Amino acid sequence: MEINRTIAPDDNMRPPGQDPAYFAIGERALTLIKNELACHTETGTARIMDFPSGWGRVTRWLSAAFPDAEILVSDVLEDALAWNVETFGTTAFETNDDFSKIERQPDCDLIWVGSLITHLPERSAKAFLDFALDCMAPNGLLMITTHGRRAVYNGATGHYPRNAFKDLDAFQSVSDAFFRGEYAYADYVATPGYGAAYIPAHWFLDQCYARDDVLVVNYREKAWNNHQDLITLQNRSVAG
Ligand SMILES: C[S@@+](CC[C@H](N)C(=O)[O-])C[C@H]1O[C@@H](n2cnc3c(N)ncnc32)[C@H](O)[C@@H]1O
Repeated sequence: MEINRTIAPDDNMRPPGQDPAYFAIGERALTLIKNELACHTETGTARIMDFPSGWGRVTRWLSAAFPDAEILVSDVLEDALAWNVETFGTTAFETNDDFSKIERQPDCDLIWVGSLITHLPERSAKAFLDFALDCMAPNGLLMITTHGRRAVYNGATGHYPRNAFKDLDAFQSVSDAFFRGEYAYADYVATPGYGAAYIPAHWFLDQCYARDDVLVVNYREKAWNNHQDLITLQNRSVAG
């Protein structure tokens, strides 16, 4: 499959000199999506959301794999969003730091959420889940990447995103909270309100068990880039 390999000069997800890794991470997202769709043949692909779309690391794979789909994108980075629309022919919608204030985008068959909740405090993560679930078509799939045990392990062994924390103690306290079973979050030093969240899998189950219109259809540890976990939810009644 041919994809558009143009990379925006300001793409902050592309480490210098690491184009193969950058493309491999996007391609891995598409593989995960295709696997999920293969398990759920009742799910359509007419309307797909990539949120947040950033500079199109995953969008480029979605637009190549689903040329007939309408692909909805959003990001707080206005330049990235404009570039995404221009480069991949996607449809942008306006976002907000308060997810409860974003206008709902109905009837999405598939929503890919790559590395968003991984940076959010718990209250924002809950508001985001409400937003995304409100946007789902019947039988639609919501695929969210998250930091689980592997990401804690990576941080503990000095890898990303350990160096974004103030010091080792700051990382250790979120790691301890994670292993106590809590939604563990700390701001990065440079960006108050935005940091790293480490989320035990049961947190997602608790959110879903509070409602009867969403199924947990998959949880895969270290599914994305050997770092982030993936949880897949489906807009389908427990009773149906
Ligand atoms: C780690 S990047 C991931 C981007 C993209 N999903 C990817 O895989 O390349 C996180 C993105 O979330 C965006 N973001 C943060 N808060 C947001 C919000 N409230 N609404 C939309 N995008 C947001 C950031 O601007 C950034 O582009």
